[in-house]
Amino acid sequence: MDERYYVGYATIHKLVKKLADRLMASGFDPDVIVAIGSGGFIPARIVKTYINRPIYAVGISYYGLDQKHMTHPQKIQWIDEVKQHLRDKRVLLIDEVDDTRATLSYCVKELLEYEPAEIAVLVLHNKLKQKDAEFAPQIKRYFSGLDIEDLWIKYPWDAIDIEEHERCEQTMLAEYSRLGKETGL
Ligand code: G4P
Ligand code: MG
Repeated sequence: MDERYYVGYATIHKLVKKLADRLMASGFDPDVIVAIGSGGFIPARIVKTYINRPIYAVGISYYGLDQKHMTHPQKIQWIDEVKQHLRDKRVLLIDEVDDTRATLSYCVKELLEYEPAEIAVLVLHNKLKQKDAEFAPQIKRYFSGLDIEDLWIKYPWDAIDIEEHERCEQTMLAEYSRLGKETGL
């Protein structure tokens, strides 16, 4: 089978709904959402539908504009106003995928400098693999919509032809269902 994992918009919406339910059931009531761009932007906006809190955006990337992998994650955009809004606040940090964890853990480390009350991490997908970095010990709540094997995930916002993308997703989901594999839905 294709070594890619296709995810459509409706699937993402459903994963987010389940994540929001789990988050609230855990007793975590965030004051603010911080979205890590660009992959975290659309998931964060859908979270806002279920948990209506202000979204602050930060841009961190492990890849330069030339698409080459850099030695460490870098701030592409870091809004100074984020700082004053995070002190003593419960922060829900959102990204689309926890892959090597390098970007996410770097972002957590930087945000902890602003002395929030707590940071909870929410991702759509967590790849089950050896991570290059670990979270700071202050991270007690971590929510992933689906833990998956180390496949390349195709997100709908990267699709050039969204209908073809959705067909690929349906074919893949049928195969997963036939094999009894977890899809988080
Ligand atoms: P992590 O801390 O979240 O694990 O991120 P890591 O530094 O390992 O990820 C590097 C980049 O690779 C990130 O993009 C991440 O979104 C992207 N990435 C990792 N695995 C996948 C995957 O399976 N599918 C897709 N589509 N992307 C993946 P970035 O540099 O932050 O850019 P952006 O796309 O978020 O703007
Ligand atoms: Mg990203």
